[in-house]
Amino acid sequence: MADDTGRLIGKPAIRIDGPAKVTGQARYPSDELLQNPAYAYLVTSSISRGRVRGFDLAAARAVPGVLDILTHESVAGEVKSPLGPDGGPTTTTLESDQVWHDGQIVAVVTAETFEAAREAAHKVVVDYVAEPPSASFDSPGAEAQPRKSDPQRKDPAVGDAATAFAAAPVKIDVRYSTPTQHHNALELFTTTCVWDGPKLTIYEPTQSMWGLKAALARQLSLDLANVRTVSRYAGGGFGGKGAPTSRTAWIALAAKRLKRPVKLAPTRDQGFTIATYRAETRHHLQLGASRDGKLTALIHEGWEITSRPSGYNVAGTATTSRMYACPNVATKVNIVHADRNTPGYMRAPPDTPYMFALECGMDELAYALGMDPIELRRINDTQVDPIDGRPFSSRSLMKCFDQAAAKFGWARRNPTPGSMRDGDWLVGLGCATSCYPSNIGPAAARLSLAPTGKATIQLAGHEIGTGAYTLVAIIVADGLGLKIADVKVQMGDSDLPPVPGAGGSNNAASTANVAAKACEAVRGKLALAAVQANDGPFAGADPATLKLAGGALVGPGGRREPLEKAVGRVGGALEVHVENVPQGLPPDAAAGLYQGRMAMARGTGRKDVTAFAFGAQFVEVRIHRHTREIRTPRVVSAFASGTIVNPLTAYSQYMGGAIWGLSSALHEVTEIDQRSARYVNTNFADYLIPVNADIGQLDVILVPEEDDRVNPLGIKGIGEIGIVGMNAAVANAVFHATGKRIRDLPIRIEDLL
Ligand code: MOS
Repeated sequence: MADDTGRLIGKPAIRIDGPAKVTGQARYPSDELLQNPAYAYLVTSSISRGRVRGFDLAAARAVPGVLDILTHESVAGEVKSPLGPDGGPTTTTLESDQVWHDGQIVAVVTAETFEAAREAAHKVVVDYVAEPPSASFDSPGAEAQPRKSDPQRKDPAVGDAATAFAAAPVKIDVRYSTPTQHHNALELFTTTCVWDGPKLTIYEPTQSMWGLKAALARQLSLDLANVRTVSRYAGGGFGGKGAPTSRTAWIALAAKRLKRPVKLAPTRDQGFTIATYRAETRHHLQLGASRDGKLTALIHEGWEITSRPSGYNVAGTATTSRMYACPNVATKVNIVHADRNTPGYMRAPPDTPYMFALECGMDELAYALGMDPIELRRINDTQVDPIDGRPFSSRSLMKCFDQAAAKFGWARRNPTPGSMRDGDWLVGLGCATSCYPSNIGPAAARLSLAPTGKATIQLAGHEIGTGAYTLVAIIVADGLGLKIADVKVQMGDSDLPPVPGAGGSNNAASTANVAAKACEAVRGKLALAAVQANDGPFAGADPATLKLAGGALVGPGGRREPLEKAVGRVGGALEVHVENVPQGLPPDAAAGLYQGRMAMARGTGRKDVTAFAFGAQFVEVRIHRHTREIRTPRVVSAFASGTIVNPLTAYSQYMGGAIWGLSSALHEVTEIDQRSARYVNTNFADYLIPVNADIGQLDVILVPEEDDRVNPLGIKGIGEIGIVGMNAAVANAVFHATGKRIRDLPIRIEDLL
């Protein structure tokens, strides 16, 4: 159609918030300009287990400008404890004298300036009763127990895995481990609280506007309507800003006591202990196969660290049990309580550590079979979920492997370990499967269209660096036949209609589908008014045949009416408020949204299909013959994730994930002092992250995929899949280069000496 702007979905679009970000006009939560704010500084515990016997606050109070000091002695009982990332109990802070972990908040100092608050905080003297702490898995006093399996998240099992494994002609029986890691988003865990009578406004970077709102209403016993959260931008989330932390309620209370706004900007090292992290995991993996490579048994048992009171676990066996056709599967997950802060979500929380075990195991099995590792995956590829027997909504795993292998040059690989060299460098080529379940939640949105052809969409969505504003703008421009520049997107404010938290890679699917539904509601209203009117070209036409395109209402035969006329007919502006409840969720899921409850149609929990995005990760490592220095000159990753709304931001998202995966294999670990149960490298100097020189050529292939079963727009989330499997691809490449199988991350020079 000549007057059609053409579909915008799937065309690369630059970020609409890019100019605001690069010119410094984008207002992050701690940038909020306030009248007469006070500044808070946290005092955190220097022991990892025990009690606070008392405080000596005299020196702190004597610092000029100090306003108030909150401790459990002054404020315990005024705030209900927050819930952990799993909605269960978690470590407390000023609610009692108990110290659960190192770096726990034990006091909050407020002052006229940040500097005064900091000086006073350092002068707070805490008298502790210390007990010997347990740092991690092998520490005396660490308590292991099977995780509580709930009906929603049962341990996947099918057939008789033990018998099948015993009888398997080819098998591997191995153990792997992954370390503690922290998100280290650039933006710190800031909080600003402002009271206006009974109303509390919280400026805090969050991945869950309505979740944070509901959590604080519960903790402070406030009406939900009296709590507003604002986070128009977040400087990185990665899961770390997904669950509420204890700091927020204390800052709210501090502001209430002072009757003025209070701003908190904790330090980088405090961020390691006042928020969550990726817990260290251990794995026992047993794979059995027939001589022709068909899996006959898969047994995966995991162990995960958590805090003393929390039962949080990620249980990635929900993923590993569903990757390949296998008639006999058994899985189990254990949690191990130590004197640590409660872990939480971090980019592909279950899949990153658990797929490390499975995908290294598949490589080991391929060697045991004398088979190419890609062929082993092809032989065991399946379009049917092996646990639930449901079809995958779509699964393009082998397409990803084939396209990535061709680009990577897998065909020139000599499979014999240590056989490929380039001068003094041992060359290793490795690959692994990537995947992430495709989730979608209920969502609400308000959309208005003015006769000028300008649209505004409002929803309490989250821009955590992913391109969320732009994604919604593309959907609305596409749906209303406008230019992207004619669409204004407002998000990041809980006064706007609720959408789920930006976690589990649901954001694109949830917000795009509700935005598209809102556009359809607008089109429907305009079309109905147009066919009922006598003053236009569409009198008596079938409203279903009218479309919005090129800034006009367009009908069969190219008849058109400008928006000015079409919208003007229904009033000064047309506004709709719509809710979208994905198939399979109960109808009250929409109502729950307004209470801060986030129902989710999970990729592994649906009745109709099992929904995952899939990918393939390839990496070349080079290991110096003498020094064992490890370099990674080349990465090729391919992903198939259904409809890609914006290939430009998708490319960045995948690339960032792949880099982080590589980093998590070779660089990142939060070191724990075993005696004191303290994190040691809590800064950017000692917590290693890759720089440009650590990443060579990185190619991302977007494999086209259409999926009309996953959700109406066919969108599978891509926020997390990029990281999954890369750690295994690196370990597999290191084995290929050296013949050394490193099963514990991160892989370092000393492992290869
Ligand atoms: Mo993600 S770790 O679910 O923000």
